[in-house]
Amino acid sequence: MMPTPTATPGVDALWPLCLDITLHRRGELARLPWNANAPLAGDAAHGFSLRGVWDDAAVELFELIKPLLDRPREGAPWIIGQLGQSLDGYVATHNGDSHYVNGREVLVHLHRLRALCDAVIVGANTAALDDPQLTTRHVEGRHPVRVLIDPALRLTPTLRALSDRLAPTLLACDARRAAEAARRFGADQVLGVPALVDGEGRLNLRALVTELASRDLRVLFVEGGGVTVSRFIAQGCLDRLHLSIAPVVIGSGRPGLQIPRSAAMRDCLRPSGRVFRMGEDVLWDLDLRETGPRQNG
Ligand SMILES: NC(=O)c1ccc[n+]([C@@H]2O[C@H](COP(=O)([O-])OP(=O)(O)OC[C@H]3O[C@@H](n4cnc5c(N)ncnc54)[C@H](OP(=O)(O)O)[C@@H]3O)[C@@H](O)[C@H]2O)c1
Repeated sequence: MMPTPTATPGVDALWPLCLDITLHRRGELARLPWNANAPLAGDAAHGFSLRGVWDDAAVELFELIKPLLDRPREGAPWIIGQLGQSLDGYVATHNGDSHYVNGREVLVHLHRLRALCDAVIVGANTAALDDPQLTTRHVEGRHPVRVLIDPALRLTPTLRALSDRLAPTLLACDARRAAEAARRFGADQVLGVPALVDGEGRLNLRALVTELASRDLRVLFVEGGGVTVSRFIAQGCLDRLHLSIAPVVIGSGRPGLQIPRSAAMRDCLRPSGRVFRMGEDVLWDLDLRETGPRQNG
């Protein structure tokens, strides 16, 4: 009898190993439960690598999320952002409809990022307009802690993330307004951040990141919207950005990145990046720690 050919392992085989790495980083697995012949090798200190033959989709997924898998257990906070935008640079229509800018592949990818990160962060406008659940329902993996940045306390307790109890949710506001927020949202759902808002009303995102780290939330995913992701970049708080560009033209919608302007092209932020196909969309994986003016000679 002919031996049955063994199928090349793919994403379904890789993903549970990625979740093991995440649990290990969080200290919830004392050691990685793999033997010496496991198809994934390494550790966060030296970097993980695939062993043996994997199908193309698994290799591509591994390459895309490797920077996240390689986070050390006790490392400094590390923050990845995402935006899904149109060809003309918008993340939603003018009245806030963003369902959906991108295709299904990007949606699944967002859920993967949620599963690999300790917390997912959104701005108040996204929370108010989209009422997102911020769960991992399209992939295997645990829901992250959900963080809604709402310094003006404009959100309502009936929003899904604040009422469904599917995962912990923290409404982040300045510590000076924490008591007021606790009366509206419940003390367990309020993160009062010392000096989150300065005298001129500007958000200090480093203060938020420090406060989350003190709760062991160190690998953070900033999911939107444009204002919030842009603020993280402008304050030097984002390590990486996944920018997914869809073949759609919105025309004068809600803007994506809004970075302080430069007069000359040579002064513009020019991060190093890699490109991945996601169905009809193109995902740019941008390393914001490696940026610099263009070297054109
Ligand atoms: N395509 C994507 O990847 C993606 C991802 C997420 C969200 N979105 C879309 O992005 C849009 C929201 O993004 P955004 O850039 O406008 O804001 P955002 O980043 O979600 O939130 C930031 C700011 O929104 C302001 N805001 C304005 N109206 C508000 C309200 N009614 N309640 C609470 N906050 C309010 C607040 O600014 P001040 O307090 O400073 O006034 C807040 O700090 C939505 O249309 C959403 O659908 C798209």
